[in-house]
This record gives sequence, C-alpha cells and structure tokens, in this order.
Amino acid sequence: MTERRSKASQSKAEPRPADEIDISLQSLGQCGDFGALAHYADPAYYSQCYRSRKQDVNYYVRLARKQTGNILEYGCGNGRVTIAMAQAGARVWGIDLSKPMLNDLEQYLSQAYPKLGERITLLHGDMRLLELEQRFSLILAPFNVMLHLYTRQDIELFLQNVKRHLLPGGQFVCDVSVPQISDLARSPHKHYKAPSFLHPVTLQKIGYAERFEYDPIRQLLLVWMEFQPEDGSQPWTVPLTHRQYFPCELEAYFGHAGFASVEWTADFSDNPPDAATDSLVITCRV
Ligand SMILES: C[S@@+](CC[C@H](N)C(=O)[O-])C[C@H]1O[C@@H](n2cnc3c(N)ncnc32)[C@H](O)[C@@H]1O
Repeated sequence: MTERRSKASQSKAEPRPADEIDISLQSLGQCGDFGALAHYADPAYYSQCYRSRKQDVNYYVRLARKQTGNILEYGCGNGRVTIAMAQAGARVWGIDLSKPMLNDLEQYLSQAYPKLGERITLLHGDMRLLELEQRFSLILAPFNVMLHLYTRQDIELFLQNVKRHLLPGGQFVCDVSVPQISDLARSPHKHYKAPSFLHPVTLQKIGYAERFEYDPIRQLLLVWMEFQPEDGSQPWTVPLTHRQYFPCELEAYFGHAGFASVEWTADFSDNPPDAATDSLVITCRV
C-alpha cells in the first residue's frame, strides 16, 4: 500500500487537521478520524449524491409508522431518514459525530419545517459512547453507519451501547453494504472516473474520480474521492474509510453481544439475502 500525504483534501474536511498530517490507509481507521468524517464535511454535496436513494428511507419510514415510542437513530447525518420518519409522525432522537451534518439538519428544520423540529432531538456525540437516560423500542443505524466502526473494540462498544438503550423487547435495525471481493481487489493505482457534476453550493463544474485501497488484515476499504474543478482551481481529495464486515462475522458479533433472533433481509425487501444483495438489512432483539 502506498503512503501518501494529502494536503488539498484538508481544506474540505472536519475536523480540520494540522497543515502537515499523514493521511494514508495505514494512519486511518479510528472512529472520528479524517477518513470517518471528511466525506460529511460538505452536507449539500452529500445530499446531492444520495438524493435518489429512496428505498432505504421508505423501509425505515414503514418501521417508524409501527412505533408508538421514541426512536433512536445512530448516525442520523443531515436527516435523510430522520426527516422522513418525523414527517410520518415519529419522534426521533438523532445522534451524529459530524457537526456539519447536524448543523445542516438543524438549519434545514428551522427554515423549512420548524414544527417538525419539535419531533426531532439532535445530539452531537459518538455512537459507541454517548449515554442517554431514555430507552427506546426501536433503534436504527441506517445506511452503512456501522462501517464507521473500525475495530473489534469499536463494534463491541457500539453493540453494548445499543443494548443499554433498548427497552425490553425493543428492536435494533441497521443496514450495511455486503463486501464484494471484486471491489476489494481493485488496483490502488487505478482512477475510476465518473461524470462531472455541478456543486450544489458553489455551482462549479467538477470532474470526479475514485481510487480504492484495501487493507485485508484490518478489513478497511479506503475510498479516495478526487475532485477536479473544471475552471482550473485547486483540486482536492477526500478520504472515506469503511470497515468491511462479512455477514457471518457480523452474526458472530451480534451473538456475542447477546442479541437474539438476528434476522437478515436483502436490499430493504422481505427477501432473504443472496449473492446479488447489496445492502444487508439486520433486525435483532436482545
Ligand atoms: C453514510 S452516513 C449516513 C447518514 C444517514 N443515516 C443517512 O442515511 O443519510 C454515516 C453517518 O455516520 C456518522 N458517524 C460516523 N462515525 C460516527 C460515530 N462514531 N458516532 C456517531 N456518528 C458517526 C457520520 O458522521 C455520518 O453522518
């Protein structure tokens, strides 16, 4: 794996690291580090990227409609799922470690839906550690939130925290991408180009490519997101680190943490997962 320094990326990320910092696959892989948060430093771009991803939102809204009590959502981000659940009548507690994402959600609610904001409580914190007094009948971690738990200790702390906040008989539901061997085997030197796009805030036309590095020992996939403005201004690169959880490994973690009746479905349907499944949806109780 190549060591590299990325200075350009630092202007876009939160928290903003020192001028000279080593950003490489070797140095990343800790909760809350640059690879965990940089992608979320630009919430408008995040929303634009995932605006057509609706199947998961509809799935979580259906779950929320069945709830009478409060819902706890880990990694609520800038509210893609949170807002839809609150619009369906749910009361949601959202926790996230990214201040830009939470600020964006707060601002959106206060401008567009001040009434809806009364049904949403936002908290800045680490999903492994933040302790609330409330207990919930439904706890969620939508859209690969758990891929930001990089080590065995991270996931064990997180699952204990989920258990701590579940009411007796309560449900925990999350979804994670299934690792694809062909994706993990991509050359770290190949740049995968995607179509240029208009940035939603700056309105700059920006060329975009991705490069992937995989650490098979720590099971970490690092995506280098490369942005190249077409007006010739300074390019930048954003790292995104995801832990790759193989399904049977996850089953072992849930079992070890004391969860029972762990059920898997495929891609927000009622079907069992198979070789074509992208998102593994996991539903379990203590
Ligand atoms: C892929 S986004 C999903 C956001 C939202 N659930 C959605 O569906 O759009 C992952 C979220 O997890 C948050 N996150 C990463 N590490 C975290 C941690 N240790 N504690 C709380 N949130 C975390 C990120 O800030 C980001 O908002």
